[in-house]
Parts: sequence; structure tokens; C-alpha cells
Amino acid sequence: MTVVPVNPLHPEPHLIAAAAEQLRAGALVAFPTETVYGLGANALDAEAVARIYAAKGRPAWNPVIAHVPSVAAAKALARHWPATAQRLADAFWPGPLTLVVPKAPHVPGIATAGLDAVAVRMPNHPVALALLEAAARPIAAPSANRFTQISPTTAAHVERSLGDRVPLILDGGPCAVGIESTVVDCTGEDVVILRPGMLGRESLEAALEGLGVVVKHATRRAVSHQLGDDAAPLGGAPRSPGMVDRHYAPRAEVWLFETGQEGEMRQALAQRRDDHVSDKPVVALVRTVSFARDATPVQMLQMPGDPQAYARELYAALHHADGIDAGLVLIEAPPINDSAWDGVRDRLTRAAR
Ligand code: TXA
Ligand code: MG
Repeated sequence: MTVVPVNPLHPEPHLIAAAAEQLRAGALVAFPTETVYGLGANALDAEAVARIYAAKGRPAWNPVIAHVPSVAAAKALARHWPATAQRLADAFWPGPLTLVVPKAPHVPGIATAGLDAVAVRMPNHPVALALLEAAARPIAAPSANRFTQISPTTAAHVERSLGDRVPLILDGGPCAVGIESTVVDCTGEDVVILRPGMLGRESLEAALEGLGVVVKHATRRAVSHQLGDDAAPLGGAPRSPGMVDRHYAPRAEVWLFETGQEGEMRQALAQRRDDHVSDKPVVALVRTVSFARDATPVQMLQMPGDPQAYARELYAALHHADGIDAGLVLIEAPPINDSAWDGVRDRLTRAAR
């Protein structure tokens, strides 16, 4: 595996051309986007897409996002381009938003896990956009990590998770957004948020104003009745397959506490110490509480108070816990009832499952 540093703002054309050539030849290339690093392959080449599933160890029922350099290229993958998709693309592309639209017949079923809809996204990163343009085909790219592991926000994270399973990694530095794109389903009458991200419901609603469309969150029940824990869904492909449990999780156990639950955190630690559960390190991601000066051997990671900065740092913190082989990660969750934190809360809740 080769890691090639690329200028994140002005990617070197010869490096991009070489990576694009790899993609056209059917090989895998990991590349930075503004959200997380993607593991790319030619989305129109079923064998190339199969290599993604193999490298990730990802079950075939979990579909991938086709990345494109323009709205026109997205439309070309859709059987029908809904008015809602047009509005949202106009408002937020390039950006951390994935649109699920009816699939055109030439998109191979392996890319959509047999679903009749395809997920498309135009990422907001100079390296990704240059690569997509040079490749001149849609690039299927899930996050560049082994299945159920934490998504990568640096090239080093990709290297650690996938190793020689990926021949080429373009290193464009750390990702600015830090958690995966908001995924919305535009195939129905209403727009449904299948996966929360940093682009929130209010922003989507504002962009759709006047269309008479309601923006809903996919209910957990609607999803979980179809999905087992990292298991194949019962009765066919799920509507929003990425909503699988124990996604985005470090290897350590994760305990989630609400804001300010310092006493509860201390108590949990004391209990664990008394029970001699494990000698592995404990990491705590905190925002407002502080018990660093206690005798407790806990590595405190001070997390930012605003959602954007928190999202940017979250996966690096969880990767750090993996890196030191932590046995337990305590997390002080962000405030409830503040939709700006929806994406972060979603990932924390999954990590703690
Ligand atoms: O930010 C991101 O979206 C990153 C970067 C690399 O672009 N990609 C990413 O891909 O997170 P992945 O494969 O890890 O997540 C794709 C999500 C999953 O939740 C998947 O179930 C959903 O999109 N998805 C993909 N195709 C779909 C479809 N046809 N219908 C419904 N959901 C779909
Ligand atoms: Mg992923």
C-alpha cells in the first residue's frame, strides 16, 4: 500500500491523474472528502465495487454512495430526478449531503445492494472533486474503514484500518467536517433523513420551502424491525441499511453519560475499579465535567463545546482510544433537544450500543 501526500487545496494534477487511472482500471483508491475518507471504486464496474465490499468486510446488503463531480453527473445515475433532490443539490452541493433517488438501470445492483434507489453525493473537497473529474465516472465510496469500525478522518486512520487491503491512499490531511454526510431519501412524497449529519433538518426544510414537502427523521423502530445487530436484515434489504447497530464504535466498551453527570461517571469508574474488571486504560471524552485530579487513572480528552468542532475531533478521539487499547471509553454526551448536535449524538449513541 502506498500513501501519497496531496496538496489539499491545490491537488497536484499528475498525482490526481495517476489515481484516476487506477480507478478506471478497476482498482481501489482511498481519498479525502470533507466528511471522512472514502474507499473509492468505479461505481459502474460491478467487479470494482465488489472489491470495496471485500476490503471492508462489509456485508452485501449495505449499499454504497456514488460520488460525482456535478449535479449533471448525479442526474445521469437517476431514473428520475425529484424536484426535492434538485432543490437540495442546488442548496448544499458540493457538501455533506447524500441524496437517495430512483436508480437508473445502468447502475449495477451491487452498488445499491439490490435496492431500486441509488445514493449520490457531490463532496466538497478539492482532492475529491479533482479525482472525480479526472476519473470521469461515478465513484462508489463508503468510509475507508473495516466494517463496524470507526470512520477515518486522516490518512493514518485509513492505513491502520485497511492496511494492504487498499493499494493507494491519497493523503489530503484531516477532514474538516469529521462525521459522515447527512443521508436523505428523496424517493417518496416526504423527505426522510436516513442518517443525521452536520447538515440538519432545519437547513433542509429551509431549502425545500414552498414545495409542500415534510422533512422527517427515519424512526428507529422503522429501521430496527428490519435489522439485527450487524446481521443481515430479516426479509430483504432495509430501507436505510446504514442504520445498523454498533457502527462507528471503538473496540473498547463505551458508556454514555448526559451533560454534567460527573457523579455518575465517577461512580461507574469506582465500581469498575472495585470489580477489577480490567487493567486496560480508560479514556473519557468530556465537555463540562472534570475529574482529572482524582486518583482515577483516566485519560481525559477535553472535547469542544460547539458541534462543528466536536464533530471534527470525535473520530480522532475514538481512534486514539483504539490506539492505546483502551478498555473503556466514557463520553459526556452533548445537550439534548439541540438539533445542531443531532449528527454527533447519533454517532455517540451508536458507539455506545
Ligand atoms: O460522508 C459520507 O457519506 C462518506 C464519504 C466517504 O462520502 N461515505 C459514507 O459511506 O459514509 P457509507 O457507505 O459508510 O455510508 C453510506 C450510507 C449508509 O448509511 C447506507 O446505508 C446509505 O448511505 N445508503 C447508501 N445507498 C443507499 C440507498 N440506495 N438507499 C438508502 N440508503 C442508502
Ligand atoms: Mg461507513
